[in-house]
Amino acid sequence: MSAASHPSQLIDQFGRRVDYIRLSITDRCDFRCVYCMGEDMTFLPRAEVLSLEECARLVRTFVSLGVSRVRITGGEPLVRKNALSLFEDIGRLPGLRELTMTTNGSQLERYARALKQAGLSRINISVDSLDPERFHNITRVGDLDKVMRGIQAAKEAGFTRIRLNTVLMHGINEDETIPLVEFAIQQRLDIAFIEEMPLGAVDHDRASTYVSNQATLKLLQSHFTLHNSTESTSGPAHYWRIADTGTRIGFISPHSHNFCEACNRVRITCKGELYLCLGQENKVDLLPLLRENPKDDEPLRAAIIDSMRIKPKGHDFDLRRREPAVIRFMSHTGG
Ligand code: 5AD
Ligand code: SF4
Repeated sequence: MSAASHPSQLIDQFGRRVDYIRLSITDRCDFRCVYCMGEDMTFLPRAEVLSLEECARLVRTFVSLGVSRVRITGGEPLVRKNALSLFEDIGRLPGLRELTMTTNGSQLERYARALKQAGLSRINISVDSLDPERFHNITRVGDLDKVMRGIQAAKEAGFTRIRLNTVLMHGINEDETIPLVEFAIQQRLDIAFIEEMPLGAVDHDRASTYVSNQATLKLLQSHFTLHNSTESTSGPAHYWRIADTGTRIGFISPHSHNFCEACNRVRITCKGELYLCLGQENKVDLLPLLRENPKDDEPLRAAIIDSMRIKPKGHDFDLRRREPAVIRFMSHTGG
């Protein structure tokens, strides 16, 4: 433990230590990925969303309670006006060991260098297809070329261990599993396959597009020599190394059962709701505490410590159910 880190005060009733937060700084996005959003989305009015100062105050408070890793998510974090100022604000907080971001890459060409300077440690970039037309169909609006330029910009800015995030869907992009991994090898990137989760109502039947990571692993093992790895990036991904390359393949399998046992995280929505689990409704509203006590962090700290009592043991995703497991979208909760 470095001298600057804070002793952890966030331990839940199952003994799990929460040292990782994911903070969504906007529900807005310049893409409309089919697994993430409906075609028509209504976004939140400004006043209901955390200000960037409130975001920074939350991060500082969590770090003072022993959180050492923070991931900024959205929506698309970089479509938030002045997002960079938040990274500059929190990038070098004592006790914060790692500041990461999940992005769709569309704005990285512009911001990669400044983000690196601000202290951002790592980036995950969503890429579900290498075919421009298909990419456009999956994101409904996205320009693959722009994202590719964003990836290059991130590499040139000096980011290492950049990870692609891919949601494979049967009949949509499943046939790109191998090409995507080959691309990652060639570009010296990591790649993670994320199973589609039933968050928010979308326009397709998720049970019909679902691809299990077990099947993906089997396919990849028939093409590459993979070594099981015990490394972790403090997330739920299980990694395999591809022999003779620097590339790792991660599998994020929320439908398998060991996902919850090692859960070390909580999520904060762009409305300041602290969700104790991605797949459950248990939450605490932090926004009123922030706004009613502008100069006193104590009520906020107490509520966060207290929230550990209601962190659920696990989620219960079942794609056979017709309704989404939870009504809120990933873009709202922040992955
Ligand atoms: N299921 C699985 N992954 C999702 N993402 C967004 N919505 C879903 C969903 N319903 C992905 C994005 C991003 C990551 C944080 O989560 O592609 O890469
Ligand atoms: Fe935007 Fe990411 Fe959702 Fe796609 S998955 S619509 S890029 S927030």
